[in-house]
Amino acid sequence: MNYKEALQLDIFSIISKAATELQLETYVIGGYVRDFLLQRGDAKDVDIVAVGSGIELAKKVASLLPGKPKVQVFKNYGTAMILTEEIEVEFVGARKESYERNSRNPAVENGTLKDDQDRRDFTINAMALSLNTENFGDLLDPFNGLQDLENKRIVTPLNPDITYSDDPLRMMRAIRFATQLNFKIDPESLEAIKRNAERIEIISKERIVVELNKILASNTPSIGFKLLEKTGLLSYILPELAALKGIDEKEGQRHKDNFYHTLEVVDNIVPNTENVWLRWAALLHDIGKAPTKRFHKKIGWTFHGHEFVGGKMVYKLFKRLRMPLNEKVKYVQKMVSMSSRPIVLSQDGVTDSAVRRLVFDAGDHVDDLMTLCEADITTKNPRKFQKYHHNFQIVRQKIVEVEERDHVRNFQPPVSGEEIMETFNLKPSKEIGIIKHAIKEAILEGEIPNEYEAAHQFMIAKGKELGLVENTSNK
Ligand code: CTP
Repeated sequence: MNYKEALQLDIFSIISKAATELQLETYVIGGYVRDFLLQRGDAKDVDIVAVGSGIELAKKVASLLPGKPKVQVFKNYGTAMILTEEIEVEFVGARKESYERNSRNPAVENGTLKDDQDRRDFTINAMALSLNTENFGDLLDPFNGLQDLENKRIVTPLNPDITYSDDPLRMMRAIRFATQLNFKIDPESLEAIKRNAERIEIISKERIVVELNKILASNTPSIGFKLLEKTGLLSYILPELAALKGIDEKEGQRHKDNFYHTLEVVDNIVPNTENVWLRWAALLHDIGKAPTKRFHKKIGWTFHGHEFVGGKMVYKLFKRLRMPLNEKVKYVQKMVSMSSRPIVLSQDGVTDSAVRRLVFDAGDHVDDLMTLCEADITTKNPRKFQKYHHNFQIVRQKIVEVEERDHVRNFQPPVSGEEIMETFNLKPSKEIGIIKHAIKEAILEGEIPNEYEAAHQFMIAKGKELGLVENTSNK
């Protein structure tokens, strides 16, 4: 079969020309070919394999390209990269032995195209399109990846035990592709992943997180997390989540399975946010439930303080997985530790002051918090489902009203510490803190509006209450 259509970008004819000049057999391989056949939209990168030196080929290609772009050479991996305006192109020489793409070992023995295809992860990723003049655009598909694309199957070219031990990250890639493409993992492959799950421990955390993020960015992340659980990988990479699985029963009382509940929450949030960190928050919002679970004879199962404990666990989890320990982790911690606030609010009846406090504490993230709480409604009872959503609508409406009136989002005290010091002729002291706190509380409670004049009056009154004397010399 011929797929010239896939090779319309100028870069392909230039690579083809360079290959002819160097007399190098050259192919497009991997994700670009797969995504073209799946009509998966515009590709951002393309992998080129040469039977010979990929680095030489890259240098030749760069010399033929307008503007002669720079070639980035990764000598240890035997690869080279060129960034053109239209696409990122990675060049590699065909290899024979098993290879770990990111290993620090020098490049391995050269091989034929077929040798290279043997050592790739999945049949759907091992298809190659020829860039050679005599058969330009021909599909070289020794494992019938095309058939697997049609049947929506993830299958390894070799015995899966070999493919996965070549690079155990592929176990996660299998699950990630199954999730992104809604494909089934071949049963033999699934068994091999179960057998080899422990080997994920040799893979760097950063590479694991790339796959987790791709699973979370997909349309139905639950597919991936169920597979991670089923294969045993989850216990190695996210034991906090694995610990949520299961239902305990005591004296006839059961609690819900918090793992499957969590997955529903994650799927629910997908249509409402593209923000991967909010999706992480959905994934982790209940992790504090495993360590806080208790049974009480009178009230049944409780998870007291799980939000607070969960927030702390988020930090440790991010640290362990070498995820960003900057404002991203703080955001996820905040979402997790506040995840029950709007629920309590909507149940207790929505007072203005409670809403002001919510907006004050959540700041700019209050809308995200509401989105998380709405996704958390997983009841199968349609009446309750309606009611909870309706209550959250009321909370959202109140947030808008309170915001318009009181502006407590990103609260700045209307009276500064310096002004308090000047007014009462104070040196830095604990009274200043007391007055500032009292002003903030009065605003949040709705006793005074969030305005300078009212806050100034309140400060004078509060100072007098504390026995402070107003400094009249400045007046
Ligand atoms: N590959 C592999 N084993 C890996 C990683 C990659 O065999 N652990 C091979 C596959 O043939 C893959 C190609 O290298 O198609 C390119 O890898 P990469 O760019 O990471 O992934 P893509 O398949 O292009 O998919 P995506 O862009 O969605 O990650």
